[in-house]
Amino acid sequence: MLSPDEIRKINHEIALVPVRKAACIEALKIVQQHRGWISDDSLRAIAAYLEMSAEELDSVATFYNLIFRKPVGRNIILMCDSISCYVMGYREVYEKLQVLLNIRFGETTPDARFTLLPNACLGSCDHAPVLMINEDTYRGLTIEKLEEILQEYK
Ligand code: FES
Repeated sequence: MLSPDEIRKINHEIALVPVRKAACIEALKIVQQHRGWISDDSLRAIAAYLEMSAEELDSVATFYNLIFRKPVGRNIILMCDSISCYVMGYREVYEKLQVLLNIRFGETTPDARFTLLPNACLGSCDHAPVLMINEDTYRGLTIEKLEEILQEYK
């Protein structure tokens, strides 16, 4: 079931598009913002509200890697694995991240502090390698900076 606040925000998005289901990505983002991830129950509730099938909505949800279909950590690390970052030290930074967090791409730390995900170009190729944690972008990464950066996220 969707909360009144979720419905209010989804209705705002529906008003901006020609058909209800065209608001599906925004609706997924809204519910994820409230609940942290999109469970099967949440998916069914959104689909019913948008008058589309759960299967159709699930195919949209799984296409976007920033829609989470399983629980994630409190902080999401998106690490760019595109060409400029790859050339400029991606491998070294990724290996250090794996050591510091003891997880790989697609995994969450046991204390749910971090989830680590690969991501295509984050738009700062001239300052590669780059990663984002939540809304924060870190450019020109070095393994020396990593530990200090991670400490800012609880
Ligand atoms: Fe990494 Fe563009 S290739 S930010």
